[in-house]
Amino acid sequence: MTTAEKVGQLVQTGPSIVGAFGVSFEELLNMVFDGRISDEEFQRMMSESGQDYHEEILRQGGIGSYNGVTDPEVIRKLQRIATEETRMGIPLLFGSDVIHGHRTVYPIPLAESCAWDPQLWEKTARMAAKEASRDGITMTFAPMVDVAKDARWGRISEGAGEDSFLQSVFGAAKVRGFQQDDLRKPGTIVSCVKHFAAYGACEGGRDYNHVELSGERLYEEYLPPFAACIKAGARAVMPAFNDINGIPCTVSRKLLRDILRKELGFTGVTVSDSNAIAECVDHGAARDMAEAAKKALEAGVDIDMSSGVYAAQLTDLVEEGVIEKAVLDEAVREVLRVKYELGLFEQPYRFCSPEESPEKENRALCLESALKSMVLLKNNGLLPLQKNVKVGLIGSLAESRADMLGAWALGGRANDCISLKDALEEAGLPFVRIESDLSEVEDCDVILLAAGETKEMSGEAASRAVISLSQEEKGLIRALRESGKPIILILFNGRPLAISDAAPDADAIVEAWHCGCESGHALVKLLYGDRNFSGHLTTSFPNASGQCPVYYNHLNTGRPAGRGKFTCKYLDVETEPLFPFGFGLSYTEFEEEALEVQAENDILSVRWTVVNTGKRDGVYTAQLYVRDKTGVRACPVLELKAFSQVEIAAGKREEICFELPVQSLARYENDAWTIHHGTYEIFGGESSKKLIRAETEV
Ligand code: BGC
Repeated sequence: MTTAEKVGQLVQTGPSIVGAFGVSFEELLNMVFDGRISDEEFQRMMSESGQDYHEEILRQGGIGSYNGVTDPEVIRKLQRIATEETRMGIPLLFGSDVIHGHRTVYPIPLAESCAWDPQLWEKTARMAAKEASRDGITMTFAPMVDVAKDARWGRISEGAGEDSFLQSVFGAAKVRGFQQDDLRKPGTIVSCVKHFAAYGACEGGRDYNHVELSGERLYEEYLPPFAACIKAGARAVMPAFNDINGIPCTVSRKLLRDILRKELGFTGVTVSDSNAIAECVDHGAARDMAEAAKKALEAGVDIDMSSGVYAAQLTDLVEEGVIEKAVLDEAVREVLRVKYELGLFEQPYRFCSPEESPEKENRALCLESALKSMVLLKNNGLLPLQKNVKVGLIGSLAESRADMLGAWALGGRANDCISLKDALEEAGLPFVRIESDLSEVEDCDVILLAAGETKEMSGEAASRAVISLSQEEKGLIRALRESGKPIILILFNGRPLAISDAAPDADAIVEAWHCGCESGHALVKLLYGDRNFSGHLTTSFPNASGQCPVYYNHLNTGRPAGRGKFTCKYLDVETEPLFPFGFGLSYTEFEEEALEVQAENDILSVRWTVVNTGKRDGVYTAQLYVRDKTGVRACPVLELKAFSQVEIAAGKREEICFELPVQSLARYENDAWTIHHGTYEIFGGESSKKLIRAETEV
């Protein structure tokens, strides 16, 4: 291969939108964002635009992969050019953000994590991989396993919440689902785990922002999910946009070579985040594009997503000897290896075979995932509803199909989604749709109020400083309260919301998230009690925006929050979250008894008994937490170490058993994992705030 052909393998590009805009496409997006042109105007321009796939550059061997091409016909055409019309005939990779489903959209990751069900997480990823590969996609930029403790960060919606262990189990399940154990198996796509690393620790929850992080927290909290995904076989990793302690991840040799490859044993391909190599100049970490290219390649970024910097710079830099040829060869080898592993050299079109549509059968799994993702946050006995009560349905989200898709649902279609209103109608349940005339509530028995966020309000570039309900929604709740009718608040949103001012006015609160195509069906089944709730939160809900970040595994401090004046608290906001990590109600109740711990042969055997004291069968989500009380340094007040689920019939009891390896208590001290021997508290329960405990020596 010539140097230019090698560089071509490292170039990932997307289609350019071409049309008579008079400005660049990026500027056009900015114009929509700041209101200089309307959505309608934008849609009109788009309908008159075309897509340029840079076919001539492809023919010259200048492109190794595409991002964002999802039309199977176009994929076929580009793959044909790559394999038949270029000198080397190397097949292309096609990457896309298949984040929570493809055609069939299942709940956003934050929602789905509330199912605490690794089998479900794997199954939905499998379903997405099958649908995506059928459309020609060979790589998904997922899972996102960024631990996210700050609800202001919009991308909290894309991962499994605030806990590192939960993210690890979630991420590994997703990788298995996307990749199975062999990329040659049918319906399998490469999983590109992101964003390496600590993107979720961005200061103030503001997207792309600086991250200041100690080595201990990096290793103990932010790296383990990546380690778990790599262990599960992930063949691609995406470095994060952010810097850590001043070094952008894109040019961090320590992160991408020493930690990722040497310590975590990663042997796959790295794909930069979109335009991230060019942005190293804005970071102030590279003088110009040439230096950005050199630093990124030498740090270990194999593929340049969308910045064009490798395409413009690398050939000259290598030929002039500024970059060693061996460094280029190594990156090219990573790219070619993954193409071999996918079997693309033998069967370049194996990913592009629109056979019978499996979407119908996928809806059942989609429904199951939505049923398990929704969380009952409050219930004064109003739920489940009787099927003959007359419901007043209020709020625009109650009939929005598009918003059920949530952030990042590129392959999804709004009309495939069932809204709450659709589902009530379909089930023939008595309801009136109340648009503006609130006096209509007089004829209703109960109010269903849908509030929260549209799909654009979370996800990338959607950080919010104030994460409460809107003023209109708050006003609406107050006005409805006056009517004296019971209110069920349904939250559709992509992040925890600070609703402490609205919560007291609601008789019941359901966290319905953005749960994808089957949102409405799932909600109706749960509201009317055809199915019991089983979801539990994986992020804490703050009382107020100013309480962010609030998370369960904080340190105790020397002056833990309490009634005294000089304690670690706010004067004007509760210290505890409104709804804590692990919390979720159901139509039954569970009580825990007698937690016991035995330490033997480097295993902690933990068991407790649970009784279903209510009148309905239910699913108990067992959560095991530990606290190192006398560590070398201060340790979190709680840390999740294991979880499982068990169905318990009404009135029955079950024993919960965990075997926890002592190794899982290791901490990262002085550049090594060490186990601190001393006293540990062990906790069990189904919410981080309602636990029974025992102590043990380790
Ligand atoms: C996001 C990534 C995503 C990529 C490709 C970026 O803006 O940060 O998460 O995979 O775009 O679409």
